Amino acid sequence: MSNSIINLSRFMLEEEKKYPGASGDFTLILEQIAFASKIISREINKAGLVNIIGSTKSHNVHGETQQKLDLFCNEKMIQALDPTGKVCAMASEELDEPIGVSDKSLEGKYVVVFDPLDGSSNIDVNVSIGTIFGIYKRLDDDDCSKSLLQPGKNLVCSGYVIYGSSTMFVYTTGNGVNGFTLDPSVGEFLLSHPNIKIPQFGKIYSINESNYDRWATGIKEYVKFMRNHPDRQYTARWIGSLVADFHRNMLKGGVFLYPENNKNRKGKLRLMYEANPMAFLIEQAGGMATDGTSRILDIVPKEIHQKTPLIIGSKYEVELYLSYREKYG
Ligand code: AHG
Ligand code: MN
Ligand code: MN
Repeated sequence: MSNSIINLSRFMLEEEKKYPGASGDFTLILEQIAFASKIISREINKAGLVNIIGSTKSHNVHGETQQKLDLFCNEKMIQALDPTGKVCAMASEELDEPIGVSDKSLEGKYVVVFDPLDGSSNIDVNVSIGTIFGIYKRLDDDDCSKSLLQPGKNLVCSGYVIYGSSTMFVYTTGNGVNGFTLDPSVGEFLLSHPNIKIPQFGKIYSINESNYDRWATGIKEYVKFMRNHPDRQYTARWIGSLVADFHRNMLKGGVFLYPENNKNRKGKLRLMYEANPMAFLIEQAGGMATDGTSRILDIVPKEIHQKTPLIIGSKYEVELYLSYREKYG
């Protein structure tokens, strides 16, 4: 590639050329996710001016009140992907059951999972939020009912969009992680963060400490150690949007933790459309993701909405967590 400005479409085409025989189906799916995210970004920027903030009367499968923007984003993702004919099923945080797509898509060779809007509680207060997605190849000889329940290690692509001080699209296809910033004047994502690598250790730990009294001893001891680390001065950061906390830690180094606790035995985050896509990204950036015992990407899912503890970030801090759990339980 030359030194000229590289937009997302060109980058994806260059990537596609590395795979002789690639049909372009996959690139089309990614293009459509990027397109949906531009519409979402536009709408989010109007929040407060038009009547899109606030909650609806409905709840999702986790019992959480759905925000108007949750449903808007969910709809935009489905509307972008459905007509491609390349996706045979989709699963979303905001859909109780996965949806097959219209008849013409039964031949689609891919399935897509997504959290259309991550960090919903931050919508009303102008704090960064995001969209998370993962793409799997449809399994051979599957009528498309089983392909959504694949372990994260089978992901062919994952990524997120962060709607922050700028809008960024960050993704991996297993060939490193690349980040693109939306230039609103031309409406294009431009390559701004090529080949992102997370530092091997960092200065940040991100955990909701209000759960302290509900944690197992190993988690308490770990956090105590981080507060008084003999070699490093750690600082705590917690935005409450996984995408934003993750994005910051990936660029600066550090660890994000949402472990299990007495109240939520599996933590809060969802394996299929939160933990797995982020785990694929962090490994591609040189970091690690675990639930405290297993590598996140190795977990064999039992159902679409299952939760998992998630400890994700720089190698040093994640390995230290594992050693504390092993020592103290
Ligand atoms: P969502 O808005 O998609 O339901 O996800 C919210 C998640 C995640 O983004 C964040 O890290 C976590 O909830 C925050 O949880 P607490 O409110 O317990 O801190
Ligand atoms: Mn979420
Ligand atoms: Mn969500």
